[in-house]
Amino acid sequence: MSIEQLAETAQAMVAKGKGIIAIDESTSTIGKRFEQVGIANNEENRRAYRELLLTTPKLSEHISGAILFDETIRQSTRDGVPFAKYMTQQGMIPGIKVDKGTHALAGFPGELVTEGLDGLRARLEEYYKLGARFAKWRAVIRIGEDMPSGTCIDVNMHALARYAALCQEQGLVPMVEPEVLIDGDHDIETSYEVTEIVLRGLFDALYSQSVMLEGTILKTSMVLPGSDCDEEADVEEVAEATLMCLKSSVPAILPGIVFLSGGQSDERATAHLDAMNRLGPNPWPLSFSYGRAMQQAALKLWSQDLAGNVRKAQDTVYARARDNGLAAQGKFAG
Ligand code: 13P
Repeated sequence: MSIEQLAETAQAMVAKGKGIIAIDESTSTIGKRFEQVGIANNEENRRAYRELLLTTPKLSEHISGAILFDETIRQSTRDGVPFAKYMTQQGMIPGIKVDKGTHALAGFPGELVTEGLDGLRARLEEYYKLGARFAKWRAVIRIGEDMPSGTCIDVNMHALARYAALCQEQGLVPMVEPEVLIDGDHDIETSYEVTEIVLRGLFDALYSQSVMLEGTILKTSMVLPGSDCDEEADVEEVAEATLMCLKSSVPAILPGIVFLSGGQSDERATAHLDAMNRLGPNPWPLSFSYGRAMQQAALKLWSQDLAGNVRKAQDTVYARARDNGLAAQGKFAG
């Protein structure tokens, strides 16, 4: 796979007015989301739900690709079309979550390290054959007393870079995701400082492991006060802090940056993205790769009538995609 092909895929992922829908919840995470709305966590419900999302009419107007989970990339629509094939036919790029989740970091109580490097080369080779053209790996950084440690940041960024290099070797664009969690009572300044250290560490690791930035996408958290912080930050403040942090730590050659929603409300996730794009021009396209902020309204509606509410639920997915697609251009007026 040439760097030109990787760069082309990366650019298509952040094409003007388009973003990514993240539907890569592991079986246990989707189980938690289903449980909250009273849906049984079985394979057919997971398949039917992902079909609902992916077959939303006109989704590709605002969605360039979707991140799938291992089970999902092996599943098909009710009519028997594999999801990855369906997406490609619709002009959407199939992506795949390839990390194996977070585990306690030995020696650092309360901190986490993402696992999944062993055997990754062979798994990526298979995912490419199944149609995936980009992959995602999420590292999680917690803010708290004496956290994050330098070690937690180092090991997680090292793993992200190892994963990214393997992805490029196998023809997949790595979406590198360091998530600084919103959990905690830290203020926005602390979130800024931690995010900046994490991003600088990430790009150091990518550089030292020869990852080609032209064929890489960054998926990051926004700079936000902790969910238990007494001081709120308004939309402009979050947009300005996030932009300054990114400009000070992310090379301009990167084809694009997408954000996770990370527990923000749907409205806030859209407003923050819109405000950042209004503050442009920026060195990179800034778009979205939201999970909850794309899906939560749809899941609630679907749970009320699994057979009867499919179209209604899809209408909310389309509306979220349209609003976030406008926000990716700084044109969301709402
Ligand atoms: P949220 O937008 O729900 O944070 O999920 C995005 C994601 O892919 C997290 O890894």
